[in-house]
Amino acid sequence: MKTIGGFGILWALCCVFADTSAASTYNRVFDLDNWVKQQRPISVDHLFRAISPADGAPGAVMASPSRSNPDYYYHWIRDAALVMKEVYRVKPERTTQSMLTLLDYARFSRQNQLTQNPSGGPADLGLGEPKFEINGAPYTAGWGRPQNDGPALRAFVLTRVAFDLLNEGKGNIVYQLLYRGEIPATTVIKADLEFVAHHWRDANFDLWEEIYGDHFYTRIVQYRALIEGARLARFLNDGGAATFYEQQANLIHASLNSFWNPNHGYFDATLNRQGGVGHKASQLDVAVILGVLHAEFEIGAFSIEDSRVLATALKLEDAFRAIYPINHFPSDLAPGIGRYPEDTYDGYNTSGRGNPWYLATHALAEFYYKLAVKTSGLNLLRITNENRAFYENVTGKRFSVGAALNLTERNQVIQAMVDKGESFLSRSRYHTPPGGNQAEQFNRDTGAPQGARDLTWSYASFISLYEARQNAMMRLPAAFRR
Ligand code: NOJ
Ligand code: NOJ
Repeated sequence: MKTIGGFGILWALCCVFADTSAASTYNRVFDLDNWVKQQRPISVDHLFRAISPADGAPGAVMASPSRSNPDYYYHWIRDAALVMKEVYRVKPERTTQSMLTLLDYARFSRQNQLTQNPSGGPADLGLGEPKFEINGAPYTAGWGRPQNDGPALRAFVLTRVAFDLLNEGKGNIVYQLLYRGEIPATTVIKADLEFVAHHWRDANFDLWEEIYGDHFYTRIVQYRALIEGARLARFLNDGGAATFYEQQANLIHASLNSFWNPNHGYFDATLNRQGGVGHKASQLDVAVILGVLHAEFEIGAFSIEDSRVLATALKLEDAFRAIYPINHFPSDLAPGIGRYPEDTYDGYNTSGRGNPWYLATHALAEFYYKLAVKTSGLNLLRITNENRAFYENVTGKRFSVGAALNLTERNQVIQAMVDKGESFLSRSRYHTPPGGNQAEQFNRDTGAPQGARDLTWSYASFISLYEARQNAMMRLPAAFRR
């Protein structure tokens, strides 16, 4: 059954069925479009409510309002940067609020950089510290540290802010707060870029805070940060630094190739594990898709169009369909996606029972919307080792590597990508309660929300996905929209 567009009769039927079953009583809204339109303002609202809370510093972002079981009431560098990317995205509709928020965030981030913490201080490795108290104090208990994706994500979003300010003639703010070519660094972006450029080779903890080693996710966002940082540095006449950042970026790019595992047929999440949990035997991890999305490359290796990324996405879908009971119902929906198959974290404890996550399921949806648009813009689609299974599956034909698709086959492929986007999104909707609240996870057996409530990153991932869907709906010929 292929028609899961959210507009079709089959979807309506499965919802009627759902209402009479024990698995879930959510989602009496039949039209995916309407749900999405309703979920967007809810998400934006939760996003802003998580920033600068009354008992916190301006610019601090709570990962979740939950203060116990689990306690997520901290400013995580990674979560905050991903949230700020969405604050930046909604700037056209909330111009003043977004810009003030981003500047508060930049100032708070600079304070974080200057705060001595268990990873170190401003002069050494302190920038890899994963989280701070909401008032900016260091978090001193044990943790998986350092996590070196944070400074890269932060530099990436702040670089956008810097370019906007320069365009608006506000170069003085950039110079005071964001980027100045001084060493040792005195501004937030410069400090992050120096840290990334000098320390990307260092082993560190992954985005899930569990494994000490070299990570695809961390590397790809570091790569993007240095590329963007080099552009800014050059623009601001810091040419020597720009060249250095580019050189390091190229080295990172080359290192990313080693994560491709031809035996697995997907990108491995981690190489050279030196510590942390050892249970991720498969090395299959949605972190790879998240990395590709967060780094936002549209063309070439490690971008949305790299067929090795598609291969990884397909393996993830199969793996999670097989292991989570709720993924068999409704059977025509794409599966809820977790972090990685062996995950033991249930949102409260490491009970051994990992679950699907909203943000991971959103990532697959976003990936397919973007891939559909990308693919529709290509004149010639060729079969590769990595995309062959997918292309054969959706066309019902057999191909040899190197073969080009005809127009009908090409349209079938694009249609399948759009349908997958809709289907993963429908999965998230299916497990979202009527008020639109999205926690961190949904239970693998019951589909009920689980783990930190109102996870800010869940909302951020929805806002990002929303734009990808809008873009697909606008750019693709109407026929693909069902
Ligand atoms: C274990 C989880 O796997 C990890 O992702 C999380 O950050 C920590 N516990 C803290 O909740
Ligand atoms: C646990 C996740 O594994 C990690 O990526 C995240 O930063 C924290 N929770 C906070 O949301």
